[in-house]
Amino acid sequence: MDYACDFLVIGSGIAGLSFALKAARHGTVAVVTKKDRLETSTNYAQGGIASVLGPDDSFQLHLQDTLNAGDGLCHPDVVENVVRSGPDRIRELIELGVQFNPNSTGGAPFDLGREGGHSRNRIIHAQDMTGQAVEKALVAAAEANTNIQIYENWLALDLIVEEHSIRAGSIAVGQESTCRGAYILDSAGGEIHNFLASAVLLCTGGTGKIYLYTSNPDVATGDGVAIAYRAGAKLANLEFVQFHPTCLYHPQAKNFLISEAVRGEGGRLIDRRGRAFMEEYHPLKDLAFRDVVARAIDTEMKKSGDDCVFLDITHLDAEFVKNRFPNIYQKCLSFGIDITKDPIPVVPAAHYMCGGVVTDRHGQTSLKRLYAIGECACTGLHGANRLASNSLLEAMVFAHEAALHCTQHLEQWRKQRVPEVPRWSSSAVPNGNNAQSEMVLIAHNWDIIRRLMWNYVGIVRTDKRLALARNHMEQIRHEIKEHMPYIRVNNDLVELQNLALVAELIIRCAIRRKESRGLHYNLDHPAKDDLNCRHDTILQYQAEDFLYAALDWKKVLCVAL
Ligand code: SIN
Repeated sequence: MDYACDFLVIGSGIAGLSFALKAARHGTVAVVTKKDRLETSTNYAQGGIASVLGPDDSFQLHLQDTLNAGDGLCHPDVVENVVRSGPDRIRELIELGVQFNPNSTGGAPFDLGREGGHSRNRIIHAQDMTGQAVEKALVAAAEANTNIQIYENWLALDLIVEEHSIRAGSIAVGQESTCRGAYILDSAGGEIHNFLASAVLLCTGGTGKIYLYTSNPDVATGDGVAIAYRAGAKLANLEFVQFHPTCLYHPQAKNFLISEAVRGEGGRLIDRRGRAFMEEYHPLKDLAFRDVVARAIDTEMKKSGDDCVFLDITHLDAEFVKNRFPNIYQKCLSFGIDITKDPIPVVPAAHYMCGGVVTDRHGQTSLKRLYAIGECACTGLHGANRLASNSLLEAMVFAHEAALHCTQHLEQWRKQRVPEVPRWSSSAVPNGNNAQSEMVLIAHNWDIIRRLMWNYVGIVRTDKRLALARNHMEQIRHEIKEHMPYIRVNNDLVELQNLALVAELIIRCAIRRKESRGLHYNLDHPAKDDLNCRHDTILQYQAEDFLYAALDWKKVLCVAL
């Protein structure tokens, strides 16, 4: 079936829904989301949102902390715009009914937490479930809006792109691509729809599932980055994968984060013998930047051979801990850990992708009418390392900018003719027992990729490990190319394709960066090289790129105008 709307939003987290609510004042919005509408990374965000709200704070300080974290690669104009817009965006959330913790001691109206790399307390939060409070408020507002339609269990496969020549007089001087919609799989019905739109917004979140250990929910398979790459959009900085220092280490705990806010309130990292080790690594100790803390834990674990380190907040008042961190307290208790009495076993895990689809200050990608917002985007805010709690802020600010930009162009876009789009064809694929039995290939390759990335492309890298990772990925890609066409398109297959592609692109970026900077640490190039390497790592699909052609089970539609 064919569908059409003004704005097609792919993803239902803070980026997608913030955009949808603003754009819906001007046109119709379809939000497609591959699982339940609440199943987003936003919903699991614990810490909060960084913004200049306290009397001792300033935009200049927030800007400087963000630049320091980004280690020379932030785009200062973007940082300035984001930090200055923060208070307005927070006010909008309050108007939607988000209940942030009030300040009980006077001064700022809200309780402001501290996290690594911040020189002031500036994290507004709803206990330790900020993301959930924000997500619920946004979903409720979207559901009440008659211009917004949410499609659950709909998975975007690829973009519908038109290509046409750019001419100087009668001479073609280049090609220009315009996004006109997307192919969407209705996972329940199995049908693939053509969804046309005046503009498409990629708001698909992160890439954490590429790694064996991650704080991210299962949906974080890099879909937006892969989709944009296949369509020819520019990507950048995929080597900068942020590992959160403290995820709960317990055999039954899947992806559970212990918020940095715990260290912000005085929690200390200790080893099995009770030694507080962070003072040996950085003057800011437990509140150093995340890359520093994650590497310190990695070093300690490798030195001692221990499976984890511990985060200790037993010295804080037990009632305070239970009230400030009710979610963490309950979750740990369910595993037999009383955090008011016992140190919490923790390990680092993949948490946030700082690179992504390159955008300008409006969230616009290198393809016309395609926007990327939130974790799947690379806006220039984070540089080589994201400052804690800047991500929800970035999503809101760019949703705002993109909505302003899109709605200014909407009338003009509406006037353009609707393209003829061929249907997605996968009917040649058998749907019998054979096809189903090959599903083991998906599970196997998924597992191999995640282990490979964890072991060879993790917190500490070397040239040799990266080269080995690249070779292994070639074999995996070969297997996918040989066998996957015989499996009917389904969520697991699509996610594996995306995961494999983005893993490969991360390796490519990491190999290109011959230095250590921010989150990218390579033992063979341990120093920062400002002279040669202080720039973004840009990637773009090229027709002659045979390696990646192998991953395209469906070619992006190109309609010559
Ligand atoms: C946390 O609560 O530690 C995560 C916050 C973030 O990633 O910004």
